[in-house]
Amino acid sequence: MFSTKVGIDKMSLYIPEYFVNMVDLANERGIDPDKFTIGIGQSRMAVPPIWQDIVSMGANAANRILNDNDRAEIDQVIFATESSFDYSKSAATFIHQLLGINKYAKSYEIKQACYAGTAGLNIAINYVRLNPDRKVLVIASDVARYGLKTNAEATQGAGAVAMLVSANPRILTIDPDSYSYTDNQFDFWRPEYASEAMVNGKFSNELYYDVFNQVMQQVSLEVLDNLEAVAFHMPYTKMPIKVLNAYEEVVDDKNASIRIKRWRNHIPAAQDLSRQVGNIYTGALYLSLISMLISDESLKAGDRIGLFSYGSGTVGEFLTATVEPEYLNMLNKDWIITHFYRRRELTVAEYEKMFNETVPQIDGVIEIKTKSSEREFYLALVDEHRRYYRFNQDK
Ligand code: CAA
Repeated sequence: MFSTKVGIDKMSLYIPEYFVNMVDLANERGIDPDKFTIGIGQSRMAVPPIWQDIVSMGANAANRILNDNDRAEIDQVIFATESSFDYSKSAATFIHQLLGINKYAKSYEIKQACYAGTAGLNIAINYVRLNPDRKVLVIASDVARYGLKTNAEATQGAGAVAMLVSANPRILTIDPDSYSYTDNQFDFWRPEYASEAMVNGKFSNELYYDVFNQVMQQVSLEVLDNLEAVAFHMPYTKMPIKVLNAYEEVVDDKNASIRIKRWRNHIPAAQDLSRQVGNIYTGALYLSLISMLISDESLKAGDRIGLFSYGSGTVGEFLTATVEPEYLNMLNKDWIITHFYRRRELTVAEYEKMFNETVPQIDGVIEIKTKSSEREFYLALVDEHRRYYRFNQDK
């Protein structure tokens, strides 16, 4: 029925310049560091400074991959986030202007916890199927905040992933069929008056396993057995191991253990980048997908892979895809390594100060100075509650 191949043609990311080491954080909190580094599986946690918010991070992620043709051919800018700072104006409208996308494109924001990036990707793919000569830009950008000294503190993080969806994609072709599940639950939520998420941590883990099992039941064994690997929504790097253990307990078809073993082999590569960043909510699945694609030497063009998206509250979806021959060239591993190496370590006291330094909710004009020497977009001014961004030319 669908003859045109559609999927992710270009993909990039942005991670803040600062991080805190999880061993330092554990020591400061009086917790055995192994709990954070092994039990949860995180080495570093990205910390965004006040001059980097969801818009500037998203713009920085997308800016690297767009050329003038893309800017003219993009019909939609879709912004997925669960850390929005405005309930009316979408973050996509800022991105549209900052990146110089043609004025005839439409721009909007999507919300359903960490699932929103996948909702955006689906809309993009369906649009391009109908309009194969056009493109859609999908950005997933978030700051994961639970609060200092909370149970979930070690699973915070920040960052953005940008994906350009087109026909004849050079990274991943996504299949038309996907498998979804919704269940109205309170595992993780954030009322509009709260600046930090509320979470029932243990229940959120259980629900994640349940939703994975529910979507997997809808997928034929023939499709599952052909999947070389699965990329997972990764709130922390231990999660894919835990969910596969839980899945193994409930499946009993004859090939289950072989396929789960195969999927397990690809998990270390998918964990690499997330272990250095933490949770980036809507972008977390796609950060782990990039990680798997650039680091997994046993993966190759033509392989079939699955993508499991999970958004608390709760929605899950499983997509299937084919890895395209040019995927490694398109992802530019060297640049990603340099981007991660540029980061600077904070002491726990510096991290706490940065965490508490938020945009003041006051009338008037607030100038925000970047302390970075990176050539990047940053939040420069808040004028009567309106945010303005500049590009830092210093470097
Ligand atoms: N050495 C090694 N391992 C240790 C250890 C030690 N000294 N001490 C504890 N551990 C292990 C525990 O055994 C446990 O491992 P298992 O789960 O494999 O048994 C692991 O470390 C974590 O320990 P706890 O379960 O006791 O940790 P916790 O209750 O303090 O918090 C958390 C963990 C629930 C994930 C919490 O950080 C949290 O609530 N995070 C936010 C919610 C979240 O990320 N949920 C994930 C599913 S929801 C989702 O995916 C959406 C989303 O993005 C938010």
